[in-house]
Amino acid sequence: MNQEIRERTKWFLEDRFGMFIHWGLYAIPAAGEWIRSERRMSVEEYEEYFKEFDPVDYDPKKWAKLAKEAGMKYAVMTAKHHDGFCLFDSKLTDYKATNTKAGRDLVREYLDAFRAEGLKVGLYYSLIDWHHPDYPKYDDWHHPMRGREEYKDEKIDFDRYLAYMHGQVKELVTEYGKLDILWFDFSYGEMCGEKWKAEELIRMVRSYQPDVIIDNRLEGSGEKNGSIMSANPLPYSGDFASPEQIIPPFGIRDDNGELIPWELCATMNNHWGYCSWDHTFKSAKTIIQKLVECVSKGGNMMMNVGPDAKGNIPGESVEILKEVGKWMQKNGNSVYGCTISEFSKPEWGRYTQKGNKVYAHIYETPLGALPLYGIAPERIQKMRYLADGSQVDRGEAWNTKLYPDVAFAALGENPVCSYPLKDETDTVVEITLVPVV
Ligand code: GLC
Repeated sequence: MNQEIRERTKWFLEDRFGMFIHWGLYAIPAAGEWIRSERRMSVEEYEEYFKEFDPVDYDPKKWAKLAKEAGMKYAVMTAKHHDGFCLFDSKLTDYKATNTKAGRDLVREYLDAFRAEGLKVGLYYSLIDWHHPDYPKYDDWHHPMRGREEYKDEKIDFDRYLAYMHGQVKELVTEYGKLDILWFDFSYGEMCGEKWKAEELIRMVRSYQPDVIIDNRLEGSGEKNGSIMSANPLPYSGDFASPEQIIPPFGIRDDNGELIPWELCATMNNHWGYCSWDHTFKSAKTIIQKLVECVSKGGNMMMNVGPDAKGNIPGESVEILKEVGKWMQKNGNSVYGCTISEFSKPEWGRYTQKGNKVYAHIYETPLGALPLYGIAPERIQKMRYLADGSQVDRGEAWNTKLYPDVAFAALGENPVCSYPLKDETDTVVEITLVPVV
């Protein structure tokens, strides 16, 4: 990884937790954002949703407040998804929110609202476009019209598409103020890297937004990371890897063994775009424990919400995020700015670490004193419950004498007794290490 990437991503690695927002016309059929491709719908069939789109409840201030309450520090919203529909007022197309009943630039309002809450802002932009006439169809892997005879010999001018795509990205990076993240999606087969004229695109983006951090999907996807893994990444390698719906089992290291910035993107139920019948939401406990897992492996987590056609984030998501927020408010210090610990994963949970503070995330009630695996007894200066700052006593007692190399914590008055965890989701003990001289 190069020095520039290291510098640019500092705030990102500090912030750790973000909100992904997938929103567009597909909220009306309400079966996820791939519906046009899955059902092989024509532009005409999909047009019905363009005519109907009328998000009367859209109030991004509410979304921003929710993100903040959940402890999220940044957000990324779909300016354009694969269906080609633009939530922003692009001069290069008529296929945009301003020409629907919405009649507004929904991206601008989102950016204003999230910035006003002090959150960092990002935009997702789909490299793939199923609406543009010059995007490949017949042979494409994903296009709704793939395999359709009438497109077999169709002449398209892909350069015209590239000019359009580059032009739209230019609009986004020049007309909407400072962007913190640009999230391109995605490359596949030969639709990758220079096929997108990626170097030129990045040069243009960086000339206007030198500090914006960019994902790795100009040459990658959830299936491959691209040259960000190499010692000398290409100019369009991006600044972070973007594992999708999976926490990399061992974090992500480049070919030199250096940990690179990465961000898990994950859905709250099992769809990105609004899906009316999908109620398989992850619990607040799961989300918290998975966020901690990401951090304990050196990564971020961006959790998705899929607002409905009227512009409301589903009630389930709202409740769950508020619950996550309650924990984050008390325990956020064990997440923000933290990373992999020098100590390996303990049996009962996880460690995260920031300098000489180690955070023990305890998921399991110990029987008697809690062994602080890996931490030598003399390295501990003090221990506190992170949630309320109260002291956690050392747990060494007559029955720990058999294990003189292991440090113990007492989770109640008497180290020989057992006590229920203070927080069933994740009880965090902040362990201050003796400074190394
Ligand atoms: C995938 C999907 C897309 C989604 C994205 C989020 O690449 O194509 O629908 O937006 O993942 O990571």
